[in-house]
Amino acid sequence: MRANAQAFLLLSVQLGLSAGQAQQQQQQQQQRPLAHSPHLIHNSPLQDHGLASQHQNGHGSSHVVVPSYRSSLLSLHRALVNIPSVTGSEHDAALLLRDVLIRQNYTVALQPILPASSSSSSSSQSTSDAGSPRRYNVLAWPAAASSSGSSNSSSSSRSSRHDADAPPTHLAHRILLTSHLDVVPPWRPYRINETAVPPSEEVDYASLARATRLGGRGSVDAKAAAAAQVVALGELLARGEVRRDEVALLFVVGEETDGVGMKTFSRSLSLSSFSSSSVSSSSSPAGGSASGKEKRIPLRAVIFGEPTTNLLACGHKGILLATLRAAGRAGHSGYPELSGARSATASLVRGLAALLDAQPALGSSERFGNTTVNVGTLRGGVAANVIAEQASAQVAVRIAVGDKDTGLALVRERMEAALRRVEGGQGLRLDGVMGYGPVECECFDTMVASYGTDVPNLDGDHVSYLYGPGSILVAHGEDEALTVGELEDSVEGYKRLVRHAAGY
Ligand SMILES: *[C@@H]1O[C@H](CO)[C@@H](O)[C@H](O)[C@H]1NC(C)=O
Ligand SMILES: *[C@@H]1O[C@H](CO)[C@@H](O)[C@H](O)[C@H]1NC(C)=O
Ligand SMILES: *[C@@H]1O[C@H](CO)[C@@H](O)[C@H](O)[C@H]1NC(C)=O
Ligand SMILES: *[C@@H]1O[C@H](CO)[C@@H](O)[C@H](O)[C@H]1NC(C)=O
Repeated sequence: MRANAQAFLLLSVQLGLSAGQAQQQQQQQQQRPLAHSPHLIHNSPLQDHGLASQHQNGHGSSHVVVPSYRSSLLSLHRALVNIPSVTGSEHDAALLLRDVLIRQNYTVALQPILPASSSSSSSSQSTSDAGSPRRYNVLAWPAAASSSGSSNSSSSSRSSRHDADAPPTHLAHRILLTSHLDVVPPWRPYRINETAVPPSEEVDYASLARATRLGGRGSVDAKAAAAAQVVALGELLARGEVRRDEVALLFVVGEETDGVGMKTFSRSLSLSSFSSSSVSSSSSPAGGSASGKEKRIPLRAVIFGEPTTNLLACGHKGILLATLRAAGRAGHSGYPELSGARSATASLVRGLAALLDAQPALGSSERFGNTTVNVGTLRGGVAANVIAEQASAQVAVRIAVGDKDTGLALVRERMEAALRRVEGGQGLRLDGVMGYGPVECECFDTMVASYGTDVPNLDGDHVSYLYGPGSILVAHGEDEALTVGELEDSVEGYKRLVRHAAGY
């Protein structure tokens, strides 16, 4: 989850079964297909309000069954939190997950992430190069069960460096569970109920009450999701509830800043980026991205793990970041009417007022609500008695209209129209506009998040889901933590989502 968490809208309880209850319920529910249509949500097992409310606060632990995966879930979560992995230094966390996944019989590929700036000798053969820590996405899929005669290249060696020259075609039509390895600074050690627990200390996980709080940096965002996804998929595979060739896991770097990990993975699914040989280059010099439908390895569904308090998020608003600049003409403040002096600060204030007043008209939608404007910073002028020549403000607009590709342009146009009505738009302009429109996820009514994620960084026609344990409101704070119960419930939630995506 990227910064600027603001508001959750439209909360309703979903996917909220406790792990113990879920085990009892499993058999009946397993066979019932989930409704795709929002009109059918009441038929959905994901939507059982009655059951969810009984266990909301994790009380009544004497009646709650401790799930069989409690210990592996909590110890993986703890191990991940104990590895500092502030954006840029995800290396050790990636290797930990690689080892864990290999032990669980996955084939694991590390996808190297090249530094954005240095295009230099990234292929310097010495991996022990102490210079900059290497960054990897971790991609894992269940190793082929037996010699089915298909591709023996990757499954024979359990772990492989991701071959940048070969598209990961084996991912086609799979359901991908994904989360991120990086956390925001500063690192904070693992805690149980506010008490730091050193890595060497033995913990009797089975004895912990569901209300016990597990804390530390990344304990929510998003190592809880990562641990829960690994355990959920392990459970589904062990019970034969999904096929080995229809699921995969992906853990990416850089989600908290530039999304470079997911963007790199997204590019690796583009077949055109591999066929540099013949036809593609002749058509257009523009890079080929705009030329019609790009050929990609299709994924069936992608389940993004982010803290949504175990509610299924319907997507999130888009964002427009820009600087509003006002240009004036300097002059003595006592004679503003002379010599065409024009105050940049006055223009800026009027321009900002116009944007703020335009807020309902910038666009709203039933799903995402209103587009909102935040004026983050103000700068301008040199002295109280000088007419200001320059002034600027940084704005962040949360976009509620259009789609991922159209929302930005739509809102930008409306902002510029509003600015043109201010003094004829003289001297006012939006600078450095960037962002994306709202991102839709598959949902059965629920909530809309006002924060950024990796969802828009993965191109393709797959169905997206956004779901995970813990609250966005604590995610980047000092007291980042979630309860044992929330973590366990999310395992059940992921299992249900995978079964739903698979059509079971
Ligand atoms: C991994 O595969 C081995 C050999 O087939 C098997 O004995 C073991 O139980 C498997 N482990 C898991 C976690 O599936
Ligand atoms: C299996 O691996 C061998 C040796 O690497 C290779 O020659 C063969 O073509 C592979 N078979 C398949 C079906 O990929
Ligand atoms: C942690 O706190 C919760 C709620 O106050 C309590 O139920 C639980 O027993 C505590 N767990 C530990 C290990 O102290
Ligand atoms: C959107 O704006 C309108 C008009 O200001 C207001 O009535 C409405 O409550 C807002 N909707 C939301 C979801 O905030």
